[in-house]
Amino acid sequence: MTTGTETVSVKDNSSLSIVNDIPIDQQIENLIRAHNDLKITNNGNLKLRINPGPDPEGLKILSKSTRERLEADNIDLSVGYPETPPRAEIPVYLDQAYAIRAEDAPYIERAKNADPEKKALLGAAKEVIHLTKNVGTEIVGLQLADLTDQQKDELALLVAERVVVFFRDQKLLPSEQLELGKYLGNIEYHPQTTHVTGLPGNSVIWNDYFALKGVNINYENNNLGNWDSLRYPARGTQVWHTDLVHEHQPAGYTHLHIDSVPTTGDDTLWASGYGAYDKLSDEFKKFLDGKKAVYVSAHAYLDREDPLGGPKRIERVHPLVRTHPATGWKSLFINRAMTRRIIGVSPVESDLILNYLFDIYEKNADIQVRFKWSPTKEGYGTSAIWDNRISQHRSVWDNEGAESRHGTRVTSLAEVPFFDPESKSQREALGKPIHQWE
Ligand SMILES: [Fe+2]
Repeated sequence: MTTGTETVSVKDNSSLSIVNDIPIDQQIENLIRAHNDLKITNNGNLKLRINPGPDPEGLKILSKSTRERLEADNIDLSVGYPETPPRAEIPVYLDQAYAIRAEDAPYIERAKNADPEKKALLGAAKEVIHLTKNVGTEIVGLQLADLTDQQKDELALLVAERVVVFFRDQKLLPSEQLELGKYLGNIEYHPQTTHVTGLPGNSVIWNDYFALKGVNINYENNNLGNWDSLRYPARGTQVWHTDLVHEHQPAGYTHLHIDSVPTTGDDTLWASGYGAYDKLSDEFKKFLDGKKAVYVSAHAYLDREDPLGGPKRIERVHPLVRTHPATGWKSLFINRAMTRRIIGVSPVESDLILNYLFDIYEKNADIQVRFKWSPTKEGYGTSAIWDNRISQHRSVWDNEGAESRHGTRVTSLAEVPFFDPESKSQREALGKPIHQWE
């Protein structure tokens, strides 16, 4: 017998090699990397049967409009679509996940360079429609692919003020979308999620594909995560959330381009963090200003010191109230899916306060916008660009897969979140009345 090796019978037809001179964490990592069926997160509803690499099966449900957009960008569909990163690159242990983007990355806030009146952008638009008083603006008559740098800076500022900005009737290649994202920040290359074949950094948002690959999503269960997404994991992105809050430098601008749009249904909602903060009394604002909270990752990993102890999430500490670097306004930086606890108060107090704060975002319609993606021109897509630093969003899965919905998403990571005690709330900065409670 080879030194340190013995074979343990697991089932009649399989065996597991135990190599005593290889550390157990290394053996577990090797096992996970070598067996596609081994999942770190044991989630009964997310039994994804996705193999690394481009997937020929995805091509079977690709819509005409999406296919044409991908082909116009010379995406090699002969190998399959979409593409899942190789298993060798997926972090198994927490320390591997923490090591991704652990260092400070330089970030240029483009909105800071913008003309506050945004004349180059708004002057060139055919129409500028504010969809609600406080949140969401639609720009008509401009192509994102043709914007000058000056217009991009002004767009960044407009998004920072209005939370989310929409552009319909866009001819926008996935590679052009990625280039715009690079201008707006540091591209988030996701080590786990599917991306456009051959184009890491441009993620695929495609519930039809995940349903095809085994995700149990139906009309009854697709909203359960809105009560507690850790206990009732979300299918797709239906829960109110903010993208990538567990990063050292979390997401700034996210750009979702939907190129296959149902005639009705599958809307997306956004809510303003400026507006949420301004719903609080001055006394409560004072209490929360300067507090910090723990934010967790959507994906889970193993603890190298306790590899059999079950999946754990990345935890990162950020300010609960953060200041936007361009507008200088304060925003409530929390979301039900990923903000776990407030530092410095008891767990019971933290739960009570956080649940109240989550409700403020989720229940106040005057700080929200609901966007209907509906197609207007054959072969054209619709874009939404939002600022994750000052918002939450969620999608609605009411079309239930009856019509194809496919999008590509590029996220630009921004600064290390900070709180400036001298900064103001949006209402305060704009000179709007602030209610005083007697
Ligand atoms: Fe999201």
